[in-house]
Amino acid sequence: MKFDIITIFPQIFNSYFNESILKRAQKKKKIKIKIHDLRKFTTDKHKTIDDKPYGGGVGMIMKVEPVYKALQSLKKTKKQSFDKAQDRKNKKTKTILFTPTGKTFNQSIARRLSKYDSITMICPRYEGHDARIEKLVDEKISIGDYVLTGGEIPAMIVTDAITRLLPGVLGKDSSSQEESFSKPNYLEYSQYTRPEEFQGMKVPKILLSGNHAKIQEWKNKNSKIKK
Ligand code: ADE
Repeated sequence: MKFDIITIFPQIFNSYFNESILKRAQKKKKIKIKIHDLRKFTTDKHKTIDDKPYGGGVGMIMKVEPVYKALQSLKKTKKQSFDKAQDRKNKKTKTILFTPTGKTFNQSIARRLSKYDSITMICPRYEGHDARIEKLVDEKISIGDYVLTGGEIPAMIVTDAITRLLPGVLGKDSSSQEESFSKPNYLEYSQYTRPEEFQGMKVPKILLSGNHAKIQEWKNKNSKIKK
């Protein structure tokens, strides 16, 4: 799976993508992440990526041309990276724009997107983006009903949620099969590790019993359906 992220703050991603499971997934070549600096796709001296809104209003709006140029350039490199035309046809790609007006991201969207070969994400900043950018993408995604300063955190969230679903990324593939949201609205049971007792709080006895059938029964009883 290849992730291409278009942003004006490329440095933001360094720390998160270079730790733990995401770092390992890249090392094992399960994923490839490429960050693209939107300013490289500007043509003026000041590398302008935003401008005032037509009709007035507060704040600055992300311009359409640099985003268009960035997407065109990505399309070209993608074409070159697959040798045969047939190869290109078989590759499933998706372009996403992050905006609070998009579809709310959840585990089922993560699962659907995990079947793609390549995902391009656009991270707007400022007060908003030129609406024509929406015509250049396949899907608009929000990560929740609140407003962030930009699409970088949403891009990290979506990359993270998809990556851990890919075969061979987690220690055991089953780790992502019995967890919260692995079924609609399913919330996993509580888990415990040593010590058996901490400041008077005890681990449920049944989990120490070694009786697998009884333990499974307890897990079933203690998982919930989210309302
Ligand atoms: N940009 C600003 N807020 C956002 C949100 N909630 N989801 C996705 N992109 C955003």
